[in-house]
Amino acid sequence: MYQFRSLIANLEKELKKLDIDESIELRISNIPNFDFQINNLVKFQNLDDKGVIKKAFSKIIEADPYIKNFEFTESYFVNLECKVEKFIDSFENIKDNIKDLNPKTIIFDYGGPNIGKPLHVGHLRSLNIGRSLYEINKLAGHSVFNDIHLGDWGMPIAQIICYIDKENIDINDIYIEDLEKIYPEASSQYTNNKEFNELAKLINKQLNENEKELIEKWSKIKKISVDSIKQVLEMLHHKFDIWNGESDVNNLIPDMLLNLKEDKKISLDKGAYVSNLDTDPKILITKSDGSYLYLTTDLATVIQRRKDIKMDKTLYIVDKRQKLHFKQLFSSIEYFELGDEQFIHVEFGTVNDSKGNPFKTRDGDTKKLIDLFDETFSKIKKINKDLDDDTCKLLTNTVLTFSDLISNRMTDYKFDLDKFTNISGKTGIYVQYAFVRANKLLENSSDSIKDVSLDFSLLDEVDLNLIKCLIKFEYIFKQALHSNEPHHLADYLYELSNNFNSMYQNTNILENKNINIKLNKLKITSFFVNFSRLLMESLGIKPAEKM
Ligand code: ARG
Repeated sequence: MYQFRSLIANLEKELKKLDIDESIELRISNIPNFDFQINNLVKFQNLDDKGVIKKAFSKIIEADPYIKNFEFTESYFVNLECKVEKFIDSFENIKDNIKDLNPKTIIFDYGGPNIGKPLHVGHLRSLNIGRSLYEINKLAGHSVFNDIHLGDWGMPIAQIICYIDKENIDINDIYIEDLEKIYPEASSQYTNNKEFNELAKLINKQLNENEKELIEKWSKIKKISVDSIKQVLEMLHHKFDIWNGESDVNNLIPDMLLNLKEDKKISLDKGAYVSNLDTDPKILITKSDGSYLYLTTDLATVIQRRKDIKMDKTLYIVDKRQKLHFKQLFSSIEYFELGDEQFIHVEFGTVNDSKGNPFKTRDGDTKKLIDLFDETFSKIKKINKDLDDDTCKLLTNTVLTFSDLISNRMTDYKFDLDKFTNISGKTGIYVQYAFVRANKLLENSSDSIKDVSLDFSLLDEVDLNLIKCLIKFEYIFKQALHSNEPHHLADYLYELSNNFNSMYQNTNILENKNINIKLNKLKITSFFVNFSRLLMESLGIKPAEKM
């Protein structure tokens, strides 16, 4: 935060004088009345027997215009209370304050559905976290691209084609419902039937070689699947800039392999190409029949993206079970010298049902996302009988997004419909309700607050609590940005909404006899509305207009 820049610089300069090279970091304080904390001086408490550091620091902090009060604890934690008056101006240009001074081009690879299969609950987190990180980075001023990276190549598709051929199914008479039944059947025959298995492998290889008739079949299957995926994504308010898939890099692979062979980076081992990088296990680049692997297409995708987009950074938002794949991908990118940009695997845990079991249908399949959407919608409609369908859909998406993003991405969580659709608690419904309420308050007042400046002598405790919470926006935004963790923002939106509700419920704002108190509270409400809207945007949630 720019308000603390000079304080931090002065403190670091002071440490330098004592020959200590240490960067001072601010944290949010959870001690009542204090707003921020410096906790990396703890290690100096024993060094500072003459109290030199403590004295010098105290002097600097005392003189800082943004600090109202501070405490230097015995164990060398420094607790800081902000002078709120000095922060209000920044509320008006919060959108500028969160801009990164060094804008980059970033690709977000998420969603990654495989054709032939419906979008299911397993896609929920990648979609939510991916969209949120995309929005956060866009707000920070980066140039952002999201790529759905379809799984539209390889064995699963070969299995589907093999099944269709074997059963004499007319490819022009297949609908998505059929396709969703065909895939599990084909996959089971692939495992259990040797003849089918060999035929499917052959088809896969011929697809890699661009066999014309097969490519035509493949492209029909792909279209049916992609149309259905697009429909569901629209319901869930997801949009992608790039609809490429694994198939789009097929033609880059032969050259890539040729170059790697020439550079002695890969060698043949029983028909398969294996990386010469010394790892355990060895990294397989192609299969023994010469066909491509998941890793092969991911490597070629890096080549393609560098050409098309010239990204500085790629974020793969993919569940943590693929850790090894990304470890191999990143070490291969480096070893093969395919790109020296940043590549990051943003991992996450699983969503389970309310009992903690994997989300399954009665038949044992993973639950479809559209079914989860429908169930959530019905529940919301039942609770809010008079609310129109569009608003209920918006709230459904809020629930599916907010409940997902508020849990730390690394942990598994239980999707509890009753809990997540509740108006109280840390729910999407709660934050939307606070937002609608605040907007209504502003609409119902006849006063213009545009040019109102706050009268600080009139602030009561609930006003101050909300303002102090607003001060943390920039800090928390950057925390989410740098750690690729949207949950900081979801948590914060809840905290902010909670503070607004306390202010709202404390007195009847519009009836307040003192016009200045009323204007104060309306002005603070308008800050809350703006911040709330920005937070929802960064989480991928559309703000509700009514509830
Ligand atoms: N289609 C893959 C899967 O279902 C996910 C793709 C993730 N992105 C990537 N570039 N590997 O597991």
